[in-house]
Amino acid sequence: MGRPVIPYTRYGHNGGMSDSPARALADPHLVYDPVSGDGPKDVVILGSTGSIGTQAIDLVLRNPDRFRVTGLSAAGGRTALLAEQAHRLRVRTVAVAREDVVPALREALAAEYGAGEPLPEILAGPDAATRLAASDCHTVLNGITGSIGLAPTLAALEAGRTLALANKESLIVGGPLVKAVAKPGQIIPVDSEHAALFQALASGSRADVRKLVVTASGGPFRGRTKADLARVTVEDALAHPTWAMGPVITINSATLVNKGLEVIEAHLLYDIPFDRIEVVVHPQSYVHSMVEFTDGSTIAQATPPDMRGPIAIGLGWPERVPDAAPTFDWSKASTWEFFPLDTEAFPSVGLARHVGRLAGTAPAVFNAANEECVAAFRAGALPFNGIMETVTRVVDEHGTPRTGTSLTVADVLQAEAWARTRARELAAQTAEARA
Ligand SMILES: NC(=O)c1ccc[n+]([C@@H]2O[C@H](COP(=O)([O-])OP(=O)(O)OC[C@H]3O[C@@H](n4cnc5c(N)ncnc54)[C@H](OP(=O)(O)O)[C@@H]3O)[C@@H](O)[C@H]2O)c1
Repeated sequence: MGRPVIPYTRYGHNGGMSDSPARALADPHLVYDPVSGDGPKDVVILGSTGSIGTQAIDLVLRNPDRFRVTGLSAAGGRTALLAEQAHRLRVRTVAVAREDVVPALREALAAEYGAGEPLPEILAGPDAATRLAASDCHTVLNGITGSIGLAPTLAALEAGRTLALANKESLIVGGPLVKAVAKPGQIIPVDSEHAALFQALASGSRADVRKLVVTASGGPFRGRTKADLARVTVEDALAHPTWAMGPVITINSATLVNKGLEVIEAHLLYDIPFDRIEVVVHPQSYVHSMVEFTDGSTIAQATPPDMRGPIAIGLGWPERVPDAAPTFDWSKASTWEFFPLDTEAFPSVGLARHVGRLAGTAPAVFNAANEECVAAFRAGALPFNGIMETVTRVVDEHGTPRTGTSLTVADVLQAEAWARTRARELAAQTAEARA
């Protein structure tokens, strides 16, 4: 089914902004629509076996008139689940990063599909998700974890797909690269905070935005001091109070690195300077973020915490998917609290602002060092506070990065590789000293 790629079209008023691609990437006033026509939207889901991926599939299965999944991708750790998803959705293509799991995947697919039913095409290898991201579809949902998601993000954008972006790391590490290829309105954010900002921004013009207010649940260690945090365990860090998510983002929520990444993400998506992006702790996770306008109005977006709401925005925008997420029961009393961020116990947001301002390869170094430190913490090599101490050292040693439009994917990968090696060395030294 060949479908023409057409340029983005203006949707509604554009708040007096220019259509220049240098403007906000996720502009709620613009809709990038690579497909015209009736019927369900063809969707590719990257990271289909993960937390975002399985919730997206739940949404698609409940809305067969709106969405049809044509391709699935995963690393390859859960072949039985992947085969079951492929069969239920009758996809065209299944992609796995690990070539060694192809025999097991083929066997699992054969067990799911009846005799005589044609099996889907299998793509395998480190670039399988990237090839799938460029395949014929309307929307690519990138729900892969980690900076490995950058190549698929770039491939989807270059192929002219709408990108429903959960994989924040690709934007963090490849900000200038993503900005160079994304057309206004082509990225729809799936992170709940950015989906909230996206919706709140739609109620005014960009010139009238005073600040963005990103909410944070505070994670499992809200209210703890730095000294308290010296004693917490991996199990404690994985017990998120309001969101059930994959392990990396859950640990990142405990350190508040996730909030730091989201501040950089908001800056890149909406072109708002760092000093006009505030973080506020909101333990209930009802308000997903807010926009304060120059007239003093604050527009907040709220739902009970459930990622199917933002996923539905990512896949369905500009339409809203009925009953995508639960609603509040206003017949019952509830408490909505807001607290300032404890920057001493949680230095990660400040460090993220610092690397965001440095730009160039600095955010990639921050993210890569953090990914390694999270792995070291989960393996028992680093204590909880050691995550940020090590990341800070790696960022400091990296110094002032090369910035500007000359940044290439190779520069980013090189900086990441260096940061990973250095973080692993420092974590190993810490583990030795603690032994
Ligand atoms: N979970 C949430 O509620 C939430 C909220 C906001 C933003 N996000 C963001 O969404 C992304 C996904 O988070 P998650 O919590 O869904 O993670 P997750 O549960 O750990 O799932 C990660 C998915 O990525 C796949 N994957 C890993 N490496 C891959 C590769 N090289 N090629 C293709 N697929 C690969 C995994 O496959 P296997 O199963 O085979 O390992 C799995 O399907 C992250 O960037 C996160 O920050 C998540």
